[in-house]
Amino acid sequence: MVIELTAQYMGLTLKSPIVVSSNPLCDSVEQIQRMEAAGAGAVVLPSLFEEQLTIKDMDLDYYLEHHPDALPDQLRFAPDMKRHNRGADGYFAHLYRTRNETDIPIIASLNGATDGGWVRYAQMLEGVGASALELNIYHLPARFTESGAHIEQTYLRLLRDVKLRVSIPVAVKLSPYFSSLPHMVSQLADAGADAVVLFNRFYQPDIDLETETVLPNLQLSNSAELRLRLRWVAILHGHIPIDMAVTGGVHSGGDVIKSLLAGANAAMMASALLKHGPDHIATVLREAETWMTTNGYKTVPELIGRLSQQHAPDSTAFERANYIQALNSYEQESS
Ligand SMILES: Cc1cc2nc3c(=O)[nH]c(=O)nc-3n(C[C@H](O)[C@H](O)[C@H](O)COP(=O)(O)O)c2cc1C
Repeated sequence: MVIELTAQYMGLTLKSPIVVSSNPLCDSVEQIQRMEAAGAGAVVLPSLFEEQLTIKDMDLDYYLEHHPDALPDQLRFAPDMKRHNRGADGYFAHLYRTRNETDIPIIASLNGATDGGWVRYAQMLEGVGASALELNIYHLPARFTESGAHIEQTYLRLLRDVKLRVSIPVAVKLSPYFSSLPHMVSQLADAGADAVVLFNRFYQPDIDLETETVLPNLQLSNSAELRLRLRWVAILHGHIPIDMAVTGGVHSGGDVIKSLLAGANAAMMASALLKHGPDHIATVLREAETWMTTNGYKTVPELIGRLSQQHAPDSTAFERANYIQALNSYEQESS
């Protein structure tokens, strides 16, 4: 049986539903070419950060070096991200080169939390050849005076501002921490989002007991993290007029298939490629093809949403009833 892996994601035609999400491998054209050869449908470049763009816009390099105390903490402690994304100028050159030396869609990523002048870089990314934009809104609500409603309005303003400036598709990458994710996602759809990417992983800082300091801590994911994504994609599928991509915990062909069955249009990978290398995409695609052959599926669209909440044999499987069932199903290991 011939399997057709072509997928559609926010108007882009992808040769497979695997999209490489933002990660350091995407900072190298050679690695991107390897991932393309292994079957990646598209690649998201590492993010350009609001803080970087604000520093560049305001010509603050001098202050950072000579008068850091004059700057707000957010900028004073903003790390130099050149190693991650080559800096704002290097980013455009990298996008341009990647665009010219590959044949798959290249998605640029803007990462911020507040609306402001930095958003105009979206236009430049489109000008340099990005096929689409991923807007990663990574906000950590640590202010006691800020309400959930206020945060949601900021997200919507930010998205509208970006959408006004570009004609390429825009996906919004979100965290799972909303009081009502379905309401938030439908508001984003109304505000013009072409897709949502679910979910950002929050890297929790750790405390080093030796040095009594707080450490940044990045651990790669595992497949167990996929479940949170599956639940929400399954609940949203069929109720919102925009596409969805899963990011977080996609490591195997089975994980890709599960993401599609729940209702995603694309499955994104980062940790597994950092662990196993770019060629791992070919292995994952082979596993997915084998599953499709065994189970009688020929194309990706046949899979999408087949086990979403709307279509699952038991529609309560994704809701509170499942929580009660799960508690009830626990069997204590015999000691
Ligand atoms: C080292 C590293 C760097 C990352 N950099 C970015 C980034 O610049 N922008 C972004 O939106 N996500 C970034 N991510 C998050 C990934 O794109 C992805 O959403 C997350 O790791 C979950 O997917 P995974 O389980 O496949 O790793 C990064 C992840 C890792 C591990």
